[in-house]
Amino acid sequence: MSYGNILFDVDNGVATVTLNRPDKLNALNAATIGDLDAVFEVAARDDEIKALIVTGAGGKAFAAGADIGELASASPVEAWAIATRGQNVFRRLESMRKVSVAAISGIAFGGGLELAMCCTVRFAASNAKLGQPEVRLGIPPGYGGTQRLPRLVGRGRALEMLLTGDSIDAQRALEIGLVNLVFAPGELMDESRAWVDKVLANAPVALSLVVEAVDAGLNLGLEDGLRFEAAAFGLAFSTHDRAEGTRAFLEKRKPNFTGN
Ligand code: COA
Repeated sequence: MSYGNILFDVDNGVATVTLNRPDKLNALNAATIGDLDAVFEVAARDDEIKALIVTGAGGKAFAAGADIGELASASPVEAWAIATRGQNVFRRLESMRKVSVAAISGIAFGGGLELAMCCTVRFAASNAKLGQPEVRLGIPPGYGGTQRLPRLVGRGRALEMLLTGDSIDAQRALEIGLVNLVFAPGELMDESRAWVDKVLANAPVALSLVVEAVDAGLNLGLEDGLRFEAAAFGLAFSTHDRAEGTRAFLEKRKPNFTGN
């Protein structure tokens, strides 16, 4: 399938979603958000796709945010709809129970950073710049930035970025936990793929249970979170892969996981 603003490529179970408006620094216009919606629906439904790498074409930007030209003429009700639509599309990625990596080269501002924050992890090239500059345009973030940034880096650091609109470089993003790893620009995609392959070598049901338990637990108190974890632990014991994993360890061989 082809998309006007996105490249979509599947290689051996891993989908690469490339925002492809490099002349506009991959700014997220309505058409691109529509393409993302379609791509995420395909990826969620296709059992052959085990993981996603989201990135931007051109090397200069992951994405420079929502398309400011489109925002400029929006009415209040249209702006509400734009925010809700973007939030829903990004949430589709976040909640699809597949591992995802944001591979960030260059600018990840506004909606670009908000999209990256919906991925399971974020890897940055050393040239990355990340920020939420919306207040400079007279608006707050609308694609989840006020909610996910404090969850990732804490209230104080999030407010520092959100209130100044200042961007931070890859090293600072690493220090505050906004990105997980930093690579040389030429190594970003290969390293992202290597990380995905390492994760996918583990038992698929266990991976899903980990993500479910972490995400559920962030919205629960400790007691309820621990109950959720214990139930997830028990559920894993219904899988073939659990028996295979423990048996392989005892037999001193690599496990052969099937996802069952
Ligand atoms: N929406 C629409 N177009 C955008 C855009 C955005 N968010 N960000 C960049 N572009 C366009 C520019 O208008 C320009 O288009 P043109 O060549 O037709 O004039 C092109 O992308 C290149 O951007 P330019 O500003 O010339 O590049 P730069 O290297 O000088 O600056 C930035 C890069 C990221 C600092 C600057 O583009 C910027 O501040 N963008 C807006 C970031 C933002 O506020 N995002 C939040 C939106 S809610």
